[in-house]
Amino acid sequence: MLKIAVLISGGGSNLASILDKIESGFLNKIEVIKVISDRSAKGIELAKSKGIETVILDRKIYGNNLSEKILDTIYDKVDYIVLAGYLSIIGTELIESFRNKIINIHPSLIPSFSGNGMYGINVHNAAIQKGVKYSGCTVHFVNEEIDGGAIIKQAIVPVYFEDTAESLQKRILKEEHKLLPEVLKLISENMIEIVGNKIKIFDENLVLEGTL
Ligand code: GRF
Repeated sequence: MLKIAVLISGGGSNLASILDKIESGFLNKIEVIKVISDRSAKGIELAKSKGIETVILDRKIYGNNLSEKILDTIYDKVDYIVLAGYLSIIGTELIESFRNKIINIHPSLIPSFSGNGMYGINVHNAAIQKGVKYSGCTVHFVNEEIDGGAIIKQAIVPVYFEDTAESLQKRILKEEHKLLPEVLKLISENMIEIVGNKIKIFDENLVLEGTL
């Protein structure tokens, strides 16, 4: 079993999709040990209702020591950290302790619309303003550079002329709910290998079909 901590900041819909896929048996080698939020968040209630241990580490209280506090909470207890809509910066100590064991989902095709200031609706506003015909989402490893770690998997989403940032966000979020569980499945089945800054996937056919 791969023991994971899921870090959230808000809605927790990506957390919900992970928990759904555990319940359906798709993620049969994943166990969510802890859900940590940097503010009071809807996702915390969801985790509690599933009997998962939850911790709120308010970033207004812990400030620059937030990552250290997270490390104290999970050290020796989890194998992997999943950032699912987590908005605080991950500190060096935490990255070093979990090197190549922290993944993040970002709502664009990295490197487009990523990096500093590119979070939440800003990402989709930037995509609409640029007039791109495709956007999407990316699951990547977390390193010291914001949104800069090795890309594990991406999903493409079309952008239509009539789209607003909000309608695009909604369409991409649906794909996120498939992509993140797919990557967790690959990781828990040892089906990825890190080769420099590239990721080799051993089973490209492992996809979640249909709507989730
Ligand atoms: C998602 O779009 C995620 O990619 C981004 O923040 C949003 C959070 O969604 N980082 P949720 O909290 O999982 O509903």
